[in-house]
Amino acid sequence: MPVINWNLPKMVSKAYAPLFTSNKRYIVYKGSRGSGKSEAAARKAILDIVTKPYVNWLILRRYANTNRQSTFTLLQKVATQLGVSGLFQFNSSLPEITYKPTGQKILFRGADKPLSITSISVETGNLCRLWVEESYQLESEEAFDVVDESMRGVIDDPNGFYQTILTFNPWNERHWLKRRFFDEDTREPNSLAFTTTYRDNPFLDDAYVNRLLEMKIRNPRRARVAVDGEWGVAEGLIYENTIVEKFDVREVVNNARIVRGIDWGYGPDPTAFIEYAINTRTKDVYIYKEMYKKHMLTDEIFKWLYVHGHQQGDIRADYANGGDRMI
Ligand SMILES: Nc1ncnc2c1ncn2[C@@H]1O[C@H](COP(=O)(O)OP(=O)(O)OP(=O)(O)O)[C@@H](O)[C@H]1O
Ligand SMILES: [Mg+2]
Repeated sequence: MPVINWNLPKMVSKAYAPLFTSNKRYIVYKGSRGSGKSEAAARKAILDIVTKPYVNWLILRRYANTNRQSTFTLLQKVATQLGVSGLFQFNSSLPEITYKPTGQKILFRGADKPLSITSISVETGNLCRLWVEESYQLESEEAFDVVDESMRGVIDDPNGFYQTILTFNPWNERHWLKRRFFDEDTREPNSLAFTTTYRDNPFLDDAYVNRLLEMKIRNPRRARVAVDGEWGVAEGLIYENTIVEKFDVREVVNNARIVRGIDWGYGPDPTAFIEYAINTRTKDVYIYKEMYKKHMLTDEIFKWLYVHGHQQGDIRADYANGGDRMI
């Protein structure tokens, strides 16, 4: 056996120490772009294989075919950097990684192919480590549970334990990951959850950091997640693919379907009105008239519609919750 000098403080920043010291069932890292999550998890995968003969890894992504370009390549790079790549056999066509001295495996799967996961068996030791990379992409908590539950049974080593690592960018606070691992009242008891940012990654170059910092000015909503690693706030946002630009209203209403809608509110939700043109051919929607105001009384709403020329023409509105009276 080769003598390997694992110098943890040199391998990863302090923020990732729990990956190497904790026996908790779940260790979860949400974080900004480039905070070092993937690199740290990859280092743990290699280290656990070499130092714990019972360990086999399953590396899961939303789509199986994305593993080769990401997690597999990263593990290969990290094994080389740690000076142990000669101990591994890298089969990129499967993909699969084998630790040559014992036959321990690092397997790669996708949540899009659940059957390929439930049927896994390993030759030596146990399948007792799971890394869900970019776990934000797993929209289904059930899909996660199916895979996670497949890690069970008696571990050969008396000191052995099961462990699942999750790494992701927290794009939206409505994700099941928040409830499951971060919210006080509902989080998994046997788990650790952390937030890391580019500040936890001493390996980044200045150009990358500067681009992140620019994003804070240019696109604060995205920067909240990408730069600060905080949960993205949905604020009822439905359409992401919108742009604000000048256009000629006469042009867009030509041959378009004109639609008007009103959403009754008062406070905290405002009353909202929009008028827009749908180009049925291109499926583009042009919103050219909006009203968005809190604390409007019924006759103020009526007056606004009257003054803006809407005493004729259809307006769609919600009939429920008092909407019938307003209509
Ligand atoms: N432990 C490390 N050793 C050497 N380089 C590192 C290490 N951690 C991070 N890096 C460097 O920082 C870069 C970003 O790290 P990494 O890809 O792990 O970030 P991430 O948190 O996974 O980002 P994203 O959210 O975009 O996936 C890597 O490409 C690598 O160059
Ligand atoms: Mg990553």
